[in-house]
Amino acid sequence: MAAASATAAPARLPRHIAVIMDGNGRWAERRRRPRAVGHRAGARAVNVCIDFCLERGVEALTLFAFSSENWGRPEEEVGALMKLFLNALEREVDELHRRGVRVRFIGERERFGETIRKQMDAAEARTAGNARLHLTVAASYGGRWDIARAARALAEDVAAGRLAPEAIDEAALGARVCLADLPPPDLFIRTGGEMRISNFLLWQMAYTELWFTDLLWPELDAATLQRALDDYAGRERRFGLTGAQIAAPKSETAE
Ligand code: IPE
Ligand code: IPE
Ligand code: MG
Repeated sequence: MAAASATAAPARLPRHIAVIMDGNGRWAERRRRPRAVGHRAGARAVNVCIDFCLERGVEALTLFAFSSENWGRPEEEVGALMKLFLNALEREVDELHRRGVRVRFIGERERFGETIRKQMDAAEARTAGNARLHLTVAASYGGRWDIARAARALAEDVAAGRLAPEAIDEAALGARVCLADLPPPDLFIRTGGEMRISNFLLWQMAYTELWFTDLLWPELDAATLQRALDDYAGRERRFGLTGAQIAAPKSETAE
């Protein structure tokens, strides 16, 4: 999919936005409140982001909610986050369904308790027929986990005689990572001021445009998201080619 769009005119609106929702803890600490309060405030910002994507006609939104490494946080904070997930799943899915949002989860689901796993399964099944916005929540997710899992799937196919080792290429691995059925993220947004990927979509973001803001996640508003979209619209995505090749009509670059 990335290759197909490589020589196309720059898309003004990203089809797929991937977001690291960072800064909840600092938002709470600045107010001398427990970090869990920040996570609760962050849950409200999730709705701001979803509303924005629905209004603008963005096709896919992938939100990083909890990383593989976040399991290492203090037990109390992990517990508060689990409670919040469960509440959000119970509270929000009806409304998301009503608005035509398809909800899916990526990550190591086995690490969650049974109640959360069941709610995730139910939300996916309930919204499976929707297509207005593809919302993916990355929870217990790590980019390295994703790639390792895809490598294991390749190995299993080879061992079972379904795949020749020579057939393993980027497309074969790319078909086995998470989000393989969506266009790769066009735009990555990270709040909270850190300029890093933190083990998010390592494979999928090879050519994603990166955008950072110092704003903390609970402070997110539509104006900030619009700034990200405006910056994105002004960028030239070259995918390794020259600016002249990108500017030229497709027929000329094909020679
Ligand atoms: C992001 O906010 C939410 C999760 C990682 C679950 P943080 O909790 O990382 O907030 P900061 O970065 O400590 O402020
Ligand atoms: C990334 O934020 C993960 C999520 C937002 C879910 P972190 O706060 O965990 O990342 P680092 O530790 O600053 O790299
Ligand atoms: Mg953080």
